[in-house]
Amino acid sequence: MQPNMTTILAIESSCDDTSAAVLRDQRVLSNVIASQKVHEQYGGVVPELASRAHQQNIIPVVDAAIRQAGISKDEIDAIGFTRGPGLLGSLLVGVSFAKSFALALGKPMIEVNHLQAHVLSHFIQVESGKRKAESDASAQKELSTLHSPLSTPTFPFICLLVSGGHTQILLLRDYFDITVLGTTIDDAAGEAIDKAAKIMDLGYPGGPIIDRLAKEGNADAFTFATPHIAGYDYSFSGIKTSFLYFLRDRLKEDPDFIEKHKADLCASIQKTIVGFLLKKVERAALDHRVTQVAIAGGVSANSLLRSELQRICQKHHWQAFIPPFSFCTDNAAMVASAAYFKYQRGEFADQSLAPYTR
Ligand code: KG4
Ligand code: ZN
Repeated sequence: MQPNMTTILAIESSCDDTSAAVLRDQRVLSNVIASQKVHEQYGGVVPELASRAHQQNIIPVVDAAIRQAGISKDEIDAIGFTRGPGLLGSLLVGVSFAKSFALALGKPMIEVNHLQAHVLSHFIQVESGKRKAESDASAQKELSTLHSPLSTPTFPFICLLVSGGHTQILLLRDYFDITVLGTTIDDAAGEAIDKAAKIMDLGYPGGPIIDRLAKEGNADAFTFATPHIAGYDYSFSGIKTSFLYFLRDRLKEDPDFIEKHKADLCASIQKTIVGFLLKKVERAALDHRVTQVAIAGGVSANSLLRSELQRICQKHHWQAFIPPFSFCTDNAAMVASAAYFKYQRGEFADQSLAPYTR
């Protein structure tokens, strides 16, 4: 290893994914994610079961991350961990583990905000060819042959953070100089998508299922109104309710309505939500004269959101930053990325801290 390189081990346990990653100077040496299947049968995350699964997974996941990275424990310079927001029981497992591990190794620890981590995933060093190839599923096989220069956003840029728990338009002037321009006043976009899937009895999490089914559907088959909300804020509870009432009426006339129109319903609701999201992002970028726009969070894996962002950016001659799929949903590589910048500033956490849920 070259001198002056920083090796961070990070832990993410805020919701239902137990993850550990090792990054060396922002390059991923490993990023292990254990997703909890136990929640699927309940149609949503059950907090008690999530904490228990984290407790079972945390040591094997950290162990695997260190082994896959091919490092020894004394090469770790600091332990990064998600302090919040998230589910308390889930966070407690990761935070307690990070404290104990840091103490045992005699290394500093760095607390990370989960939302900042999603945004700072854009600074993980990935070959730009890989970013491009991963954004286009059909180009997956090119991955191993591409080694183009790195591509990360420069400040200022706008980031749409869109996940199961959050929907925010953020203006970044620096790594930790983040202004919230807009936020949802009720449900998160991912939550609305998951609820739409639940209404159609498609399974959980619904986002990837809707994305897949939408590819075979007509996005203009049905229209769902979007609310008029001031500024850059969002609201998704109305869209979800109008979807529910629309289906209730149609099911009265035809009990097989959902089954017959599944793909069209998925394509139409996806188009509604993605259109609503990006309309405000476009407005925010124009108003703030920003020419770089990023997306982050679980919903940024959505194929329509990815292609529409690219289309809008091309129209304005802006640059679009779309994370590789592996950094969209919850992962510890993004936590390590945020921890790296805090490490450089000497911002370390002390052993007495507790997680925060909001
Ligand atoms: O970031 P994340 O893993 O967890 C939170 O911090 O919430 O995001 C999970 C959300 C879920 O709502 C899931 O349905 C959604 O991301 N999601 C998607 C896709 N993949 C995951 N939504 C739409 N299309 C996708 N392909
Ligand atoms: Zn997340």
